[in-house]
Amino acid sequence: MLNAEKIREDFPLLKNTNIIYLDNAATTQKPIQVIEAIKEFYSKYNANIHRGIYELSEKATELYEEAHEEVAKFINARSWEEVIFVRNTSEALNILALTLSKKVISRGDEIIVTIMDHHSNLLPWFKVAEYTGAKVRVVKFSPAKWSLSGEDLENYVTEKTRIVTLPHVSNVLGVINDIKSVAKVAHEVDALLVVDGAQSVPHLPVDVRELEADFLAFSGHKMLGPTGIGVLWGRKDLLEDLPPILYGGDMIKSVSLDLFTSRLNIVYNDLPWKFEAGTPNIAGGIGLCEAVRYLKKIGMNEVRRHEEKLLQYTLKRLSELEDKVSILGPLDFSKRSGLVSFNLSGYDPFAVASWLASDNIAVRAGFHCAQPLYKYLGLDKGSVRASFYIYNTESEVDALVESLKNLLGE
Ligand SMILES: Cc1ncc(COP(=O)(O)O)c(C=O)c1O
Repeated sequence: MLNAEKIREDFPLLKNTNIIYLDNAATTQKPIQVIEAIKEFYSKYNANIHRGIYELSEKATELYEEAHEEVAKFINARSWEEVIFVRNTSEALNILALTLSKKVISRGDEIIVTIMDHHSNLLPWFKVAEYTGAKVRVVKFSPAKWSLSGEDLENYVTEKTRIVTLPHVSNVLGVINDIKSVAKVAHEVDALLVVDGAQSVPHLPVDVRELEADFLAFSGHKMLGPTGIGVLWGRKDLLEDLPPILYGGDMIKSVSLDLFTSRLNIVYNDLPWKFEAGTPNIAGGIGLCEAVRYLKKIGMNEVRRHEEKLLQYTLKRLSELEDKVSILGPLDFSKRSGLVSFNLSGYDPFAVASWLASDNIAVRAGFHCAQPLYKYLGLDKGSVRASFYIYNTESEVDALVESLKNLLGE
């Protein structure tokens, strides 16, 4: 069983401050192992990759490639070549939408997004639709059910559907969507399934083969890794067929320029480098590798179990506030990941978050980059969100609930 108290020992920020950090869906804290791995890289191996034939560069290259392998194993990818390092989930989804718009999406085609999507997975598809002449259709969920599965898509997919995309876990509702059943419906019409894994990969065991997804995006900083490193995973056969959208060093095998005709001939590099133009975030990749090793050591089933238990406890304790609290999403903790969005009646979410901040409790308030979802739910001020990770404890949940009770004058 995961021991949160022991885990906390690895996190300098948690030792150096007395913050109750419940904003993990935004970004997580970093263990000393990740901080040290980055420090070690800069102090012992810093050099550019794939360029030098000297030892330092070879070592940097080895570590950076190893990071791709570690991430590939973590999500059970068929090959490390399917793992492209980018800056974050947003960049992964933007790159994907752009490359698909050059090969797969054209005028009259349909792209299916959902009302539950984060802006990072809404805007790129709407923008791509705008200039390709494709149409975006938005799937809704029934407020009685809260989550999404294949049957919710059945009235939306048509022969024209090229892309189906949705979050694996909603960053607002915390619900875990049934990706496998969505994959079945999408693939029946030969559409590609793009999964936003920003809130699932850090919290649940995610196996891309089992999910039957075609693409998956996630961020390193939400899973103990540094900022500035994220992952775009895609099926190798698809990635091989898609064009890069960023050009520069390392993404080509050869370039020849005919000076007479000004004609340029490019032979692209192999995967994943074809999609990683320029000097990448080498230290970030190495940091992410260490974060993945840290999570693997705990075991993602344990991570999930810990969050489930904490969420169950939180829902129970919040219920003490009776009708003064309204919780977004299902009350069945087994259907959701470790976060809870809520409102206190009569209080602006920002007022609640700033009250909690005065008690040294960090939560997030507002629309959580999902404004269309809040509009759909009829919540014009958004909500408060408390989100957990491996180092959070029941006593921190107690502090949250006690602070809310004090605000309510109970
Ligand atoms: C579901 C979801 N998708 C995408 C993102 C964007 O992640 P990033 O800011 O790391 O690009 C987030 C961030 O909160 C998220 O929760």
